[in-house]
Amino acid sequence: NEPSEQANASAPDLYAVIGSPIQHSKSPLIHNAFAQQTQQSLSYEAVLGDENDFKGSVDAFRARGGCGLNVTVPFKQDAFQYATEHSERALRAGAVNTLVFREDGSVLAENTDGVGIVTDIQNNHQVLISDKRVLILGAGGAVRGILEPLLSQRPAEVVIANRTVSKAEELATDFSDLGCVAGCGFEAVEGVFDLIINGTSASLAGELPPVPEAVIGAETVCYDMMYGADQTVFNAWADRLGAKKTIDGLGMLVEQAAESFFIWRGIRPETGAVLEKQRALLH
Ligand code: ATR
Repeated sequence: NEPSEQANASAPDLYAVIGSPIQHSKSPLIHNAFAQQTQQSLSYEAVLGDENDFKGSVDAFRARGGCGLNVTVPFKQDAFQYATEHSERALRAGAVNTLVFREDGSVLAENTDGVGIVTDIQNNHQVLISDKRVLILGAGGAVRGILEPLLSQRPAEVVIANRTVSKAEELATDFSDLGCVAGCGFEAVEGVFDLIINGTSASLAGELPPVPEAVIGAETVCYDMMYGADQTVFNAWADRLGAKKTIDGLGMLVEQAAESFFIWRGIRPETGAVLEKQRALLH
């Protein structure tokens, strides 16, 4: 063999996260930690996508030998379009965060966000979703992305509340074949819930979705899909009202990455130490 061929033969498989902006993405650190832990020969980088030419950005990555991509804002719908095959979950979500480039040229689309949040809630926090009364705040892409895995755990009921009521109603209709799902406005939410998930981007603006305080009881677990160095506005509000437990979305981030890694490599990494490291890095 020529030396260059040998180098190629042993080159690590190439993966990346694509988004815009992308420089603050935690995915490279997370995936490279998974690779080291599982002794997989791969490299994982961050790629700044062209907002006017997602296809061109992905084609260029594949030309460099790319095997798979994670996809983040604002490309999750573009990635859906780019793929040639979609998992049932990705079809339901209408957006994807994971692409697999197969050797035959086909492109498989997956969405691992929902598995990420369900795994974090159930495995990392030992909160079972089955038979629970679940309230979801928000009806955007983030919520659509998690509904199928959430409903597959057979909650007793899911209520989707949103500022724009028609969007909550539409989501409820789209997923009604998978369980008991209803959509409404924030003020129309009634009763106490076992699990409340904040999937709105209100926290970004330091705002609270205006749900009645009575949704929170002594046994209520609250989950904010957002996270940061400080507690989110929503989780602080829930704690003040006496919620049993509040969880932020950092575990979801690590678990969705682990699921993507599993799809690509067929090996499920341990997430505990990686999550702890990411938590420490927030401060
Ligand atoms: P994402 O991809 O993060 O879901 P999105 O599709 O723009 O982003 O959805 C944002 C969600 O947060 C929506 O449910 C939005 O409510 P509307 O559908 O009424 O726009 C919700 N949201 C954003 N800011 C909010 C605020 N200040 N209070 C309540 N809900 C808010």
